[in-house]
Amino acid sequence: MNSEANTNQLKAGMVGFGMIVDETYRPFFETVHETGLYQRATGPVEISLEAVATRTGSRAEKYLAERGDKVGGFQSFAGDDAIEQMVKSGLDFACVASPDDRHFDSCKKVLESGTHLIVEKPSVLKLQELDELTALALKNNVAAKIVYHKLLDPDHKKLRTLVHDDVLQHVNNGYCSLLEPKSISGSQFAQWITGRNPGTYVAVHYIKLIDFTFGGKLKTITASGQRGLVGDQDGPTWDSCQMKMVYEYDSGREAAFDIHTSWVTPDNFPGYVEQEVQFRFDNGLWNGHSRKRGVECTVEEKTPFTLKNSMNNHYNGTFVEPWGTRSQRGYGIEVIERFAREVALIEHGGPASERQQRLDEVRSLSYNDLSADRQTVAAVQALEAILEKHVQGEPDCVVRVNDEQGGLVLYRPGSSEADVLYEGTV
Ligand SMILES: NC(=O)c1ccc[n+]([C@@H]2O[C@H](COP(=O)([O-])OP(=O)(O)OC[C@H]3O[C@@H](n4cnc5c(N)ncnc54)[C@H](O)[C@@H]3O)[C@@H](O)[C@H]2O)c1
Repeated sequence: MNSEANTNQLKAGMVGFGMIVDETYRPFFETVHETGLYQRATGPVEISLEAVATRTGSRAEKYLAERGDKVGGFQSFAGDDAIEQMVKSGLDFACVASPDDRHFDSCKKVLESGTHLIVEKPSVLKLQELDELTALALKNNVAAKIVYHKLLDPDHKKLRTLVHDDVLQHVNNGYCSLLEPKSISGSQFAQWITGRNPGTYVAVHYIKLIDFTFGGKLKTITASGQRGLVGDQDGPTWDSCQMKMVYEYDSGREAAFDIHTSWVTPDNFPGYVEQEVQFRFDNGLWNGHSRKRGVECTVEEKTPFTLKNSMNNHYNGTFVEPWGTRSQRGYGIEVIERFAREVALIEHGGPASERQQRLDEVRSLSYNDLSADRQTVAAVQALEAILEKHVQGEPDCVVRVNDEQGGLVLYRPGSSEADVLYEGTV
């Protein structure tokens, strides 16, 4: 093994330090600080969390004081120029986990500094933003990736494998639902929830799952939702959303998918976060249910508040391993490690003269590359536009993809006028 001085290194930054950081990034950085990262092509690589940029610095600094030694300490920057300060630390990659509608600005600053990027889903809310970030990544020779951890869920990997191997043939239709408790909208996200909806934030997991697993061309998006619990019944903040997407495949046949999301389910409902999918094929049926695949556990005075009734031990579980050590592991963490491996490969996986080749290879991975997120972003942009029109008193709009008027076009019922949301081809 190399001595530490000769060991390859990657310096990382983190934008945002909220719930998702606690669940996935923090355990990743703590584990990798202890173990390093090894691939044959790179040898051992040391990965360090160098700097964190947040709005107020409070959660990052609390962590630094309580457990900062687990990652070897880091610099904490807060306020309006926190990201500019953060990238000056000479980073190799940065993770963006700020609220959804602030991803674009954060990502832009990261990419402008020539730093590899990984951003939480939804990557951005508009195709125009996607174009700008993709161009920046190309110009600055860095990778721009998105965290889609549900693609690494073993159940979803199996679904895709059966589709890929033509065991399950031609998807006809399906539904996905994800229900979250009121505490998510009421306290966890209270700071930034005004004007937001639970669709963009979580339906996007399923939009990507459908897009990546079944391929095809996105044609039409419709959506509706309910208000009155999180915010005013006529206001811009949504309790629950239902969206439908229609896809067309090379054969000319179509499929339709419904995605239902809510963040106002009672706090004590047994699912806590309940996820369900059903896909119907020419020759089969796939049913997935987070509670049916897992365990149900009750502990007096703990569940479902400090301990979940139906824990997803595949996503992000804390364990005492059979060999005695404690760990926190699962596909939510694996997806970040996988990205770090991709960056390590680009920077340390062979001679500098072949870096571009390695970067192109990493960019061609459509499960997480920003350039492969076009239809997903289109669906999110359409959902946001339809809900916005609804708030303005025009419900039931339809968005069509790549029609004669443009790439993403919104139509109102009873009006011949079209709103072109995006001109280029999706
Ligand atoms: N992959 C998943 O399943 C999953 C789960 C939860 C959240 N997320 C995503 O992670 C992101 C963050 O969600 P969360 O649950 O951690 O939210 P959170 O509200 O708990 O934390 C948000 C963090 O962002 C920081 N922040 C806010 N504005 C900022 C800015 N302009 N610049 C820098 N930092 C800023 C805040 O200080 C805070 O640390 C969202 O995009 C969300 O969609 C993903």
